[in-house]
Amino acid sequence: MSIKIKTAEEIQKMRVAGQLAANVLEMIAPYVKAGVTTGYLNQLMHDYMINEQNTIPATLNYHGFPASSCISINQVVCHGIPGDKKKLKNGDIVNIDVTVIKDGYHGDTSRMFEIGSVKPFAHRLTRVAHECLWLGIQQVKPEATLYQVALAIQTHAENNHFSVVKEYCGHGIGADFHEAPQVLHYAAPELKDIILKPGMVFTIEPMINLGKADVKLLADNWTVVTKDRKLSAQWEHTLAVTETGYEIFTLRAGEQPVLP
Ligand code: MF3
Ligand code: CO
Ligand code: CO
Repeated sequence: MSIKIKTAEEIQKMRVAGQLAANVLEMIAPYVKAGVTTGYLNQLMHDYMINEQNTIPATLNYHGFPASSCISINQVVCHGIPGDKKKLKNGDIVNIDVTVIKDGYHGDTSRMFEIGSVKPFAHRLTRVAHECLWLGIQQVKPEATLYQVALAIQTHAENNHFSVVKEYCGHGIGADFHEAPQVLHYAAPELKDIILKPGMVFTIEPMINLGKADVKLLADNWTVVTKDRKLSAQWEHTLAVTETGYEIFTLRAGEQPVLP
């Protein structure tokens, strides 16, 4: 229920787990191109986690989820199930979301990939979603509230005539994959009561839609799509509140803030 404050020892373990999660996305990047199946990408990431990292893929069997990553193409908002029949093609936008467990602690991160050359509106959606993540992150510091994080994200999305998904959110993270608090990405009034303190660790992972915000769960009970079947984009980091601001655990090599 209540938000756990992590000890210095826990923070160090989460730093390691976060780095390993980021490394999975770095490893997979060169393979993400037209013609490959998401099942193949999932297999590469699974093998890397198990054999190279000695991490546990947290999504595998999580509430019955059948894969070691979520891969969500175009109108898929989140929780796309990788498959050997799902082939990437020129013009697709795709999110790959990985969560590893190392030494009992979770690191959770996702990013978008553009396959070949994508339409300008698809590129703009992907970029604005990325800016939303970073604008949200930049609000994080002691005594700020999650309302400020959400407001920054929603404002930027809507200024660009995009919409924010309401049904899925970021989350506290630690020894458990999903802990309190729920990190909503739209300015819900109850977020004003969630005051950030050093040692809190959570994800920010806005899902931004090209059209309407509404989503639909497919019959497989996992895949979430936009109701209007227009594109959706998402980026995710795991971060801690520090004495002066934030520390991102899942930064990739050379990654810089992406701001409007
Ligand atoms: N990684 C996702 C998140 O960001 C959760 C995936 S849960 C699964 O919270 F079961 F769909 F894998
Ligand atoms: Co997450
Ligand atoms: Co994730």
